[in-house]
Amino acid sequence: MPKVQWEDRYSVGNQELDEQHRALFEIINRLHQVMMDDGETEDILQVKEKTFYELEDYGRNHFASEEAYMSGINYPDLNAHLRQHTDFLERIDIIKQNLGSCGGPRNSGIMKILVAWLHDHLENEDQKYRAFASSQLSPENLRKG
Ligand SMILES: [Fe+2]
Repeated sequence: MPKVQWEDRYSVGNQELDEQHRALFEIINRLHQVMMDDGETEDILQVKEKTFYELEDYGRNHFASEEAYMSGINYPDLNAHLRQHTDFLERIDIIKQNLGSCGGPRNSGIMKILVAWLHDHLENEDQKYRAFASSQLSPENLRKG
């Protein structure tokens, strides 16, 4: 799996959230590296577990920032977006609990799923609140306000 790279088209128009997304990519890349290690020693398993905890922890905090931002702009699809975040954290939790039975090929599949989720979420769901935020700032709306 090639490294995931943040691109300008992922920008959500908010610097703090963009930086958090970049950091998420960085954790995913690190996770990919450790997941490709086939060894089954306790040490390797612990590094995998630790990196998953990091992704879960960072993800939870990032989602909380994003949710606060969406709620601040009165984003109408907040609940649907929240469900996606919860779904992601639940998936991470399930994978984390089953790390003991992981091996190279299976892990590569897991990473592909996680990366696909992240790309899809950033390109589609997150862009929806960006579009909403900029429509709120349109000259027409500002005149109304
Ligand atoms: Fe999101």
